[in-house]
Amino acid sequence: MTSNVHPIGVFDSGYGGLTVLREFVKTMPQYDFLYLGDNARTPYGTRSFDVVYEYTLQAVNELFNRGCQLVILACNTASAKALRTIQQRDLPLISAEKRVLGVIRPSVEYAAKYTRSGHVGVLATSGTVASKSYPIELEKWSEGRVKVTTQQACPMWVPIVENQEIGTTGAEYFVERDMKRLFEQDPKIDTLILGCTHYPLLIDSIRNYLPNRKVEVVEQGKIVAESLVDYLYRHPEIDRNCTKGGMVDYLTTEQVELFEPRASLFMNKEVKARKVHL
Ligand code: DGL
Repeated sequence: MTSNVHPIGVFDSGYGGLTVLREFVKTMPQYDFLYLGDNARTPYGTRSFDVVYEYTLQAVNELFNRGCQLVILACNTASAKALRTIQQRDLPLISAEKRVLGVIRPSVEYAAKYTRSGHVGVLATSGTVASKSYPIELEKWSEGRVKVTTQQACPMWVPIVENQEIGTTGAEYFVERDMKRLFEQDPKIDTLILGCTHYPLLIDSIRNYLPNRKVEVVEQGKIVAESLVDYLYRHPEIDRNCTKGGMVDYLTTEQVELFEPRASLFMNKEVKARKVHL
């Protein structure tokens, strides 16, 4: 990236954020994007608050150093555990012009608008569940009208996706088990947030275990993309700092030989990446 290119940075612990990047590129193809996957240190979902914060800040700084003025944490675990501290403590010291946004708020806004029963369920990593970010944000946003009635941690789902086990008997076992656990706790859930950017890859299995067709499954990619378009419209001073040359570049902390074929599957086209050390 040359220094006069200012892509929108998109960060995830691994491949999951590509489900968000895919929608960004579809919705706003004129913008430049720089994806960073911390594949060498994934998963984040079972790591402590401090470690997720430290890794996420390293990634954000890397993206800033490579010209990004705006970074999206396309990772619920990082959004839940690191976003607020980065926004409140680190950003004021780094630059007044740069911004970091997450994926939780747009998902919560959507769920609050959609639900009729007022019962929202969340599937997420253990870290996101433990942070209680979804229940807190939803309660705040809807002024107590809507609640996350049940959260179900799905610690096996990210390894299933990262290890290309989607559709296997083992994968089906864990998806069925966790979906049953969720709906047994609250059968009135009518809106289900997939609170991890890896989970859309398991959507076919997830749909098999919904108790009825009326349950709305909230996949984040499209919602976050629409929310970003709206954000840039409302903040022309930030939009001005994002260059529009239609470029999409990829960075990974793993060997590129491992990253490229899998990322190409997610993006449905050939991906070339560069390796970075954080
Ligand atoms: N895809 C990420 C999320 O949205 C993180 C998964 C992980 O690293 O555990 O939470």
